[in-house]
Amino acid sequence: MGVTIVGAQLGDEGKGKITDIYSEEADVVARFQGGNNAGHTVVVDDEEFKLHHVPSGAVRGKPAVIGNGCVVDPEVLLGELDGLRERGVDVEFYISERAHVIMPYHRVIDGIEEDAKGDMAAGTTGRGIGPTYEDKVGRRGVRVLDLLKPDALREKLEYVVPTKKALVEEVFDVDVEEAGYAEAFDVDSVHESYLEHGRRLEDGVVDVSELLNRHLDEGDSVLFEGAQGTSLDIDHGIYPYLTSSNTTVGGACTGTGVGATRMRETVGIMKAYLSRVGTGPLPTELENDIGDHLVEVGEEYGTTTGRRRRVGWLDLPMVRHAATLNDFTGAVITSIDVLDGLDPVKVCEAYSLDGGRLERMPADMDDWSRCEPIYREFQGWSDVDWSNVESYEDIPDPAREYLEYIEDEVDAEFYAVSVGPEREQTIIREDPFEQP
Ligand code: GDP
Ligand code: IMO
Ligand code: MG
Repeated sequence: MGVTIVGAQLGDEGKGKITDIYSEEADVVARFQGGNNAGHTVVVDDEEFKLHHVPSGAVRGKPAVIGNGCVVDPEVLLGELDGLRERGVDVEFYISERAHVIMPYHRVIDGIEEDAKGDMAAGTTGRGIGPTYEDKVGRRGVRVLDLLKPDALREKLEYVVPTKKALVEEVFDVDVEEAGYAEAFDVDSVHESYLEHGRRLEDGVVDVSELLNRHLDEGDSVLFEGAQGTSLDIDHGIYPYLTSSNTTVGGACTGTGVGATRMRETVGIMKAYLSRVGTGPLPTELENDIGDHLVEVGEEYGTTTGRRRRVGWLDLPMVRHAATLNDFTGAVITSIDVLDGLDPVKVCEAYSLDGGRLERMPADMDDWSRCEPIYREFQGWSDVDWSNVESYEDIPDPAREYLEYIEDEVDAEFYAVSVGPEREQTIIREDPFEQP
């Protein structure tokens, strides 16, 4: 059966940690969208793994698959695989021949366009994600299979590179030589280095749809690891302050070539509060000592870019939107421990806008920026020794009240409650692979 993990908010909900936990039962783990904009953390016995490309199931030695819906930076990917192997994690690795490749000029354009966009800039990770997906949709992208075909790759580069160079120089008025970007626009150099990456990746290049469907036919369990979060989805998120892929559950089908009916469970991962890396409105943002508490205790610094994350109270209109879009069969709430010591604990149950009440986040970011949170307050809790809380029933009453309220609103049972970064700091209630 297939289990899909999806972020319910704005990324960094703890998907890496939960993927690692669920990987114990999975036979194979696949990423289906995004690229190295993702930063997924797995902590095992004090040892921390930060994964950008490689699915988090690799830490447990499960076959790790990158689906066609992903974009890949081969140098980063190869470096990550080498790094894992040096740490004793021998990854059985597969990548779709159809996945699109992040080229050096994509990274350059990502940075230049962010600078030029002004208020429309999303605060991207600068990894070239948007420009790579643009080329995919524009039918001029380089796919992994192109890295194995010298002549085809050269033909593509000879068309694409001059158009990118013209964009940078003539539209954005940046001199490629002077800015130090010459190599990124040098067809010979890009051709040579990307063919070398292709040679190093070649053994793992497969038809991912065929691979995963074969596993499913044999009765194996496949775990689909989403990146980013629902409100960063290109169609359903906070446009334009979002990423360029479908982060919602449908992305797992199109991003791997596995049919929707094989995805039996969709587990929404949500943080007990809200964090955000990037620009744009954030109605529940806390720019005060409560925010400082969340950043310090939750160590809210970006896994990919190291930026201090913006934080706020849990935004239910956002999470409800995610619950509807993904139809979560279950959910996991993380970082409940970070709220320890705050009193009261607040949740934004709805927004007030132009005298009306909104239960779901609006599509228009001008409207979202004018939304005033309507808060519900909960009694706080403190001095909880979470290491002694072994079952859901043992969770102190005030924290449980908070959880039960959210569970009702999301209309999905909490399969697990995460109370710390470590694998063991997790109160497990239900196993998604054992659901009827
Ligand atoms: P992802 O992108 O969704 O995989 O999340 P990140 O790894 O970027 O960010 C989540 C951060 O929170 C990481 O540093 C995790 O180690 C940490 N984390 C995960 N779950 C918990 C939790 O329950 N409590 C605390 N305190 N930290 C957590
Ligand atoms: P994980 O998988 C949090 C944000 C960026 C920016 C916007 C677009 O770790 O949850 P991009 O580089 O994708 O073009 O940036 O999306 N963003 C993330 N925020 N977690 C992530 O991934 C993110 N990936 C992208 O900060 O606002
Ligand atoms: Mg992250």
